[in-house]
Amino acid sequence: MDRIRITGGRPLNGTIPISGAKNAALPLLISSLLTEDRLTLKNVPNLADVNLLVRILRNHGVDLAVDGKRPGPAMHLGETFHLTAREIVDLTAPYELVSRMRASFWVLGPLLARMGQAKVSLPGGCAIGTRPVDLHLTGLKALGAEIDIDAGYVIAKAPKGGLRGARVVFPKVSVGATHNVLLAAALAKGETVIENAAREPEIGDVAMCLSKMGAKVEGIGTSTLRVQGRDRLEGTVHTVLPDRIEAGTFAMAVAATGGDVTLEGARIADVQSAFDVLAQTGAQVTATDSGIRVVRNGNGIAPVSIETEPFPGFPTDLQAQLMALLSLADGTSVIRETIFENRFMHVQELARLGADIQLHGDTATIRGVKTLKGAPVMATDLRASVSLVIAGLAGEGDTVINRVYHLDRGFEQLEQKLSRCGADIERLTSG
Ligand code: EPZ
Repeated sequence: MDRIRITGGRPLNGTIPISGAKNAALPLLISSLLTEDRLTLKNVPNLADVNLLVRILRNHGVDLAVDGKRPGPAMHLGETFHLTAREIVDLTAPYELVSRMRASFWVLGPLLARMGQAKVSLPGGCAIGTRPVDLHLTGLKALGAEIDIDAGYVIAKAPKGGLRGARVVFPKVSVGATHNVLLAAALAKGETVIENAAREPEIGDVAMCLSKMGAKVEGIGTSTLRVQGRDRLEGTVHTVLPDRIEAGTFAMAVAATGGDVTLEGARIADVQSAFDVLAQTGAQVTATDSGIRVVRNGNGIAPVSIETEPFPGFPTDLQAQLMALLSLADGTSVIRETIFENRFMHVQELARLGADIQLHGDTATIRGVKTLKGAPVMATDLRASVSLVIAGLAGEGDTVINRVYHLDRGFEQLEQKLSRCGADIERLTSG
């Protein structure tokens, strides 16, 4: 299994191109199930999760052609995918695949809407929490679906004549349930109104793509989405938006190590809350013509207190990275995790590097230390792993991160992007 070695203590300086967003690319790829026509997606990041979803989609009958890769050691591998689901050949998404990546559960809505039935494995829990799917199922039932659970599978059937538009009111904000219902509503009869919809920019990106495919979606960026379903959707060309979590991650790394980095292509409005918090810690953050510039030179890191929240609040997907930064603050910070009950797996590993963090239920109290010291650590989930990278970069000596396949799920060319900015980081591949 690959490992990453980091020798810490170097500032980051330069430019980092931000890749296409994993969490938009996944539902956009799934949108290909909604049409017989070709859906072309540009700026698709080259990630393990994307490759796994492609396997799942191929199983349903999606044909994929990828435009030739750019020559040279490009850091930004954004690829162009042409996806065509002329015929759906298999209505089952099996446990072996769905259990490896929760987002694959989102094929349920599109398969049901297009084919009138689907059998999709329940995803099960994962490292960051129990993560149920009740909201997905309630939403699809509101569109007329009949749903049974049998032997770990969701078996869904649309009524005669197909899914029909309805009012769906989510009792709790869920990114995945919003995607699932939005995708299904695009092929349902009439209008669907989704209330208390998630407002994450990735939802907006999918809504824009669906609009281009023919399903009119209004209210993009708000908590009420109005979808005019169509009997048939068309192919289109869409570019995946830049990854705000990747941008926020590198910004935290610069704030932790010191330096001056431009995050090329990043859009500040997509991650304003995190950049506001970074500014409170003492980093300078400026929106530029090409992206976002983050600078921290000399001054210490001020402690802050935050809670994770659905968009536009501070994202749970940046909580671990912020904690790594605050481990080095001049004082005590508090982070409350309100989205996932178990998303603190990085705490023990950060402690191995010398961080002083106390956990009480959903709240972490972080007493800043003067220095972190390198140590061998274990990656546990995607964002937790990258928090260890940040801590390793900002610490003294060598840190070796084991189980880096977690990082490969969601960060494109991580070591290359960081080493181009002066980091001493390398992948140790095991034969
Ligand atoms: C998405 O997961 C993201 N995944 C996650 O990113 C992200 O952390 C999360 O949204 C929150 O922003 C993708 O976009 C692929 P939710 P999702 O449904 O959709 C509860 C990463 O690191 N809930 O918004 O699974 C749930 O348990 C990943 O890139 C229900 O109770 O998250 C959680 O407490 C990890 N019932 C809360 O809602 C349901 O039916 C929010 O979860 C669904 C969710």
